[in-house]
Amino acid sequence: MHSLEKVYQQHLLDLAGEGRERQLSTLNGIDFSSNDYLGLAGSDVLRDAARTVLETGVALGSGGSRLLRGNHYAHAALEEFAAKHFGHQAMLFFGSGFAANSAVLATLPQRGDIIIHDALIHASTHEGLRLTRADHISAAHNDVAAFADAIAHYRAQGGTGRIWLAVESLYSMDGDIAPLADLKKLADEHDAFLLIDDAHGGGTFGEEGRGLADYLIADRRYEGAAHNDTVHDDPMHADNVIVLRTLGKAFGVEGALLGMSSVLRDFMINRARSFIFSTAPSPFMASLAQAAISLVAKTPQLQANLEQRISLAVHHLKPYCKKPDPHTPIFPVIMGDNDRTMQAAAYLQKQGFDVRGIRPPTVPKGTSRLRIVITNNVEKGDIIRLADSIDDLLDFI
Ligand SMILES: Cc1ncc(COP(=O)(O)O)c(C=O)c1O
Repeated sequence: MHSLEKVYQQHLLDLAGEGRERQLSTLNGIDFSSNDYLGLAGSDVLRDAARTVLETGVALGSGGSRLLRGNHYAHAALEEFAAKHFGHQAMLFFGSGFAANSAVLATLPQRGDIIIHDALIHASTHEGLRLTRADHISAAHNDVAAFADAIAHYRAQGGTGRIWLAVESLYSMDGDIAPLADLKKLADEHDAFLLIDDAHGGGTFGEEGRGLADYLIADRRYEGAAHNDTVHDDPMHADNVIVLRTLGKAFGVEGALLGMSSVLRDFMINRARSFIFSTAPSPFMASLAQAAISLVAKTPQLQANLEQRISLAVHHLKPYCKKPDPHTPIFPVIMGDNDRTMQAAAYLQKQGFDVRGIRPPTVPKGTSRLRIVITNNVEKGDIIRLADSIDDLLDFI
C-alpha cells in the first residue's frame, strides 16, 4: 500500500470496527431489497418498449449539456408529456433523483430563506442542504406541529425570507407516509414552498401511478391530461408544491422529473449548476421513461399485483415489523445493533433471500435494520418462506 493511502485504510478499518464497512455485492437470491416495486426493470414488457423506442432512431447519448447541443426532442417530449400527466405547469428531467434533489435545494432557496426539513429526509436532500445559501433546520419526523413551531421561531427571530418545507411522501427506510395534506395546509398558511420527494410513491401509488403527491394537485391537471374532467382553469393556484418523481424505482428505468411552475423551471435552467454544467441524460432513456410512465398508467394490474403481495406481507411480517402505514411496500425489521443486523441479513441471504442490512448513517444510530421490500419480483410463497426464516433467525440471533 502506498503511504498516501494509509489514512483511507485506517478509516475503512475504523468503519469495519463499528460494523459499518460497506461492500458491493452482486444480485443474489430472491429480490426483497430493490425499489423495483412493480417488477418492471427486468420485464419483457419494458424490454419490448425499449426496442420500440430504439427503432424510432432516438440518440443513445445526448452529446452535451441541455443548454448546448444536448437538448434533444426526446427530453422535451418527456417533460411535456409528464407535466400533463402529473399535473404540473412544467417539468425538468434530471439523470437521477440524487442530482435533482441536490440541485433544487442548491438553486431555489436564497440567502435569508429557511428550509425546514423532516429529520429523516434522504441523503440527496442533505446534499442540497450542504450546497444551499439558505438557513436550514430539521423538524421532528412527520410532526406537522414541529414544522409549524420552526416557522414561528424563524419569524419570531426576525426571519423575513421565503419558507421551504422539504419532506418525502413515503419514507424509504421506515415505510411510513408523510401527512402531506396537513403540510400543504401549513405551507399555504405561511405562503411557503412545499418540496415533496415522491421517489417511493411515484408509480407505486395513486391513480395511474401518479404517486402520493397526486391528490394535492389532482384538481389542476392540465388540458390533455388523462383526466380532462379535473382540469383546473387556474394552473398557478397550487404552484407552491414542487414534486420530485424518480424513474429508477417503480418506473423501472432511471432519471428523475421535477414538477414545478414554468418560472421555477426557467430559473433552474439558468441557475442549477448540475443541470447547466453536465451532459444531458440519454435521450433514449428519456423516451423509455415516457414509455414506462405510460405503461404504468395503462396497466393498473401492476399496482393491483403489488397490493396483493403487500397485504400478504402485512399479515406474515406483522410480528417482526411495526409501522404506522402497513400498506406500503417497505417493511423495516429493526435490529438495533450493526453487527446483529448484518448477521441477520447474511443468514437470510444464505436461505436464498436478497435482504440487506441498513446501518447508520443511512438510518439513525441504534436503529440498524433489515429493510424488506415487497415488489412484484417475488411470489406469494416467497413471502411466506421469508417470514418463516425471519422467525427461525430471531430464535438464535
Ligand atoms: C427518497 C429518495 N429520494 C431520492 C433518491 C435518489 O434517487 P435516485 O436513485 O434516482 O438518484 C432516493 C434513492 O434512493 C430516495 O430513496
